Amino acid sequence: MKHLVTVVVLIVAVTVIVGVFFSNIDLTPIAASAEATPIDWLFNLHMQVIAFLFAMIMVFVLYSVFAFRRKPGDDSDGDYFHGHTTLEIVWTIVPLVIVLYFSYLGAVTLADITTPGDNEMVVEVTAQQWSWRFDYPEAGLTTTELNLPLGRTVLLKMTSNDVLHDFWVPEFRVKQDTVPGMTKELRITPTELGTYKVRCAELCGTDHAYMLANVNVMTSDGFEEWLAGEQEALAAAESGPAAERGAKLAEVNGCTACHTIDGSPGVGPTWLNMYEEDIPLADGSTVKADEEYLRESIVDPGAKIVDGFNNIMPPKFGETLSAEEIDALIAYMESLGE
Ligand code: CUA
Repeated sequence: MKHLVTVVVLIVAVTVIVGVFFSNIDLTPIAASAEATPIDWLFNLHMQVIAFLFAMIMVFVLYSVFAFRRKPGDDSDGDYFHGHTTLEIVWTIVPLVIVLYFSYLGAVTLADITTPGDNEMVVEVTAQQWSWRFDYPEAGLTTTELNLPLGRTVLLKMTSNDVLHDFWVPEFRVKQDTVPGMTKELRITPTELGTYKVRCAELCGTDHAYMLANVNVMTSDGFEEWLAGEQEALAAAESGPAAERGAKLAEVNGCTACHTIDGSPGVGPTWLNMYEEDIPLADGSTVKADEEYLRESIVDPGAKIVDGFNNIMPPKFGETLSAEEIDALIAYMESLGE
């Protein structure tokens, strides 16, 4: 009985100390979304339960090692026990109740953060190796940075052009895989102004670690201003030279994530001085980088692989780009020639 009382006191003490330690170290970055509140609450509750489990295990083990160690000269065998039904029932029922309670809390939290908000704004997210693209269907805009107004719930409709990726902004807490051929949804209600980063949280190849995009949370006015400015710039570009439109398309479609325009090495061949050049191919032949070849390489990237590179370009640009957009891209490549 004396041992049991000592152990219980020690477990309570260690739980409190470890629990206080957990609540005082910053394990998470600032919480910048409404969804972060219930998630952080649940996360902290988990950490307190972990503190208790840690105390249960460590106190019993260490106390036994010291209190029941063999005395000098004692060579007798230990006592023999066979089962303890009450104990087994207790240590089955108690964890079961705790786990069920946590699954209930998890379900409530999930329902909470996936409930549609009032006046939601839709943004379509397209992930591909190794860039992010954001489409604002109502405004007819496409960008490489995610701009969001403060306090308004945004519904992200996400997909992937190639392999699995995962949309993750640590400050917003929520996270969602993007799956080729499927549309996945995620809701975010930003509550703090600032610039954050989308990180890809699913290993997706060579440049996975660099698959980042800025997320800017703006005031509603700032956001409206930005939208208007972008729409104006878009209208101006549409009446401007094709090469300029192509430059913008190359950016928003993620081309420049792999193809450099300054001749430096990239995951894909550089576009600098490529137009009309003879390109060595992996099969030993060469091909002239004319319009026909470039169009084929955009629509069917695996048809002719440039020597020294891998066949990893997303194959769907023939579906996602219009013929006019492909022409603009080729005009841009041409403008990068000598
Ligand atoms: Cu995309 Cu990792």
